[in-house]
Amino acid sequence: MKLFKARIISNNKIAPDHYVLSFKMPHAAGGVKPGQFFNIKVNDACAPLLRRPFGAHKINRNKIEILYKVVGKATEILAARKKGGKLDIIGPLGNGFTINPQTGKLANRQAIIVAGGHGVSPLIALAKKLSDYGARIAVFIGARTKNHVVCREDFKRLCAKLYVATEDGTAGYKGLITDLLTAKLKNILAHNTPTMYACGPKTMLKEIAGIAKRHRMHCQVSLEEYMACGIGTCLGCAVKTKTGYKLVCKDGPVFNAKDIVW
Ligand SMILES: Cc1cc2nc3c(=O)[nH]c(=O)nc-3n(C[C@H](O)[C@H](O)[C@H](O)COP(=O)(O)OP(=O)(O)OC[C@H]3O[C@@H](n4cnc5c(N)ncnc54)[C@H](O)[C@@H]3O)c2cc1C
Ligand code: FES
Repeated sequence: MKLFKARIISNNKIAPDHYVLSFKMPHAAGGVKPGQFFNIKVNDACAPLLRRPFGAHKINRNKIEILYKVVGKATEILAARKKGGKLDIIGPLGNGFTINPQTGKLANRQAIIVAGGHGVSPLIALAKKLSDYGARIAVFIGARTKNHVVCREDFKRLCAKLYVATEDGTAGYKGLITDLLTAKLKNILAHNTPTMYACGPKTMLKEIAGIAKRHRMHCQVSLEEYMACGIGTCLGCAVKTKTGYKLVCKDGPVFNAKDIVW
């Protein structure tokens, strides 16, 4: 974990309310793990006082990209920041996804990735890592409308199968991504038992955890909680697990789905 000033290389709108910002790391970015995050002060003013957490979306040699959705004051300010400006950043923080807890390699070389909303962001870096391991990946993206489906092309390059669900039916299956996942799982599980990775709204993650339990699949979820310090001192991001309270910023944000008390 390091505190550093980073130069903004680019900050571009990619979809309604969605932006990709890239910044230069002062040191090699290769050590950043998919699922780790950066706590960013979006400007030099007193407000907003607190840093905001954003997952590593793409990890390059000396450059990190974050993908963010404008939802409030801080992300609004971030969206207006220009190339060449400086950001005050702490990171990388948190544990990140584990490719395989036992061997360091991916079990069966099969994976399922489930992304809901802006939860898609850290899953691109994960898909890249999994594909470097030679994994066969099925990706499920859930969004509100077809305009909110982001990273489709990135996933297509890295994954064997891509499934999309939108709430209004403007792209792919009409309905919840968890319903589409349930429908497709029968066929997928006939051939193997993949590891599942998910990031998105808590209601979706809870549902995913239930699906993984029913099918005895190993499942890692990346949780989002409000964060004040981001480094384990304020205790503001505690979540209940089966072995007591854990901190999302320090013990997570990635957890084994079966350990969380949903
Ligand atoms: C570990 C981690 C990684 C994250 N990675 C990304 C990412 O890659 N891309 C991205 O777009 N966002 C990410 N987020 C969420 C992002 O940090 C928030 O959207 C951001 O802090 C909002 O700041 P704001 O001032 O614009 O909005 P605020 O005014 O703070 O909030 C606006 C709205 O968003 C909701 N909200 C804000 N923060 C959270 C949160 N942490 N959990 C649940 N709801 C929240 C609020 O309920 C409110 O309705 C991540 C959060 C965490 C904890
Ligand atoms: S945000 Fe302060 S302890 Fe996690």
